[in-house]
Amino acid sequence: MKKVLVAGATGYLGRYAVQEFKNRGYWVRALVRNAEKAKQPGPYFAPAIDTIADEIFVGDATKPETISEVCNGIDVIFSSLGMIKPDFVHSNFDVDYQGNMNILNLALKANVKKFVYVSVFDAHRMMNIPNVQAHEKFVRELQAAKIESAIIRPNGFFSEIGQFVARAKRGYMIWVGDGYQRQNPIHGADLAKVCVDAMEGTEREVEVGGPEVFTYHEMVDLACEIAGAKPALIPLPFWVADGLVNMVGLFNPDVRDVALFATTLSKIDIVSPKHGTHRLRDFFEQCKTLGN
Ligand SMILES: NC(=O)c1ccc[n+]([C@@H]2O[C@H](COP(=O)([O-])OP(=O)(O)OC[C@H]3O[C@@H](n4cnc5c(N)ncnc54)[C@H](OP(=O)(O)O)[C@@H]3O)[C@@H](O)[C@H]2O)c1
Repeated sequence: MKKVLVAGATGYLGRYAVQEFKNRGYWVRALVRNAEKAKQPGPYFAPAIDTIADEIFVGDATKPETISEVCNGIDVIFSSLGMIKPDFVHSNFDVDYQGNMNILNLALKANVKKFVYVSVFDAHRMMNIPNVQAHEKFVRELQAAKIESAIIRPNGFFSEIGQFVARAKRGYMIWVGDGYQRQNPIHGADLAKVCVDAMEGTEREVEVGGPEVFTYHEMVDLACEIAGAKPALIPLPFWVADGLVNMVGLFNPDVRDVALFATTLSKIDIVSPKHGTHRLRDFFEQCKTLGN
């Protein structure tokens, strides 16, 4: 039985990855910072992992002394470890780059056979964003290292739009620009299947999105329909959004980086190869039950 280390195991994608590796017969070690978090379900219906994983390894990838044995006995590694929102302690380079480098260095010493890493789709169009720069710096190191690797390049996850139904119920929704840019977001369970396929296949880079393409406008309309609400829709012109991003940057560069990601995405079509079966309508219906 192959032994896999899942890093980022308490995240939205990491939880589904733990589940999918188990479904395919792997022995799974989950790297988590907080064992209690592993016992709780994750955001937007992602499963609790403490009863699914074979071993919970408590450690923090940004603190090498806490993970020195994490690769012992491991055959392959999957990492969706990364910082998607500022924690006001670490930078993206501390987590996405250095955290993953710390794991890679241990993997090389432990003769791990393969490392599958999650970056972003169309990174080359978003290299102005520190989060993407940090991901791609690690990608270059991984691809140059003496280990088999695969890079997953996903579109946005359903978890990023899980708030839409709640926002519709609150009475107003804001979007940047005209809202006509297209994207195909993906459910964590569908993406986890693609990630495990990549572990078992030979492709070195895998671009992936969900089965349906929407404009931002259409996603908002769908959320409003499901919420049964008619919120005020407030478009924010690009020049206003860009000005706000720059202003925020004067006070807090970390928040600026997240806002920059959002404004960059709202200016371009991001449609990646379609995978999976989970429909946004069903996900939004499920979100409606959250009652927030
Ligand atoms: N979300 C999207 O739409 C999207 C789209 C494309 C690519 N991606 C990339 O896919 C990856 C996974 O995304 P996700 O949505 O599953 O993220 P997530 O839910 O935030 O999970 C991130 C994981 O990284 C860990 N982590 C975060 N900050 C850390 C730190 N300072 N030190 C140690 N560990 C830390 C988290 O641990 P804790 O649970 O302990 O916080 C968690 O296990 C990320 O690298 C992201 O950039 C995401």
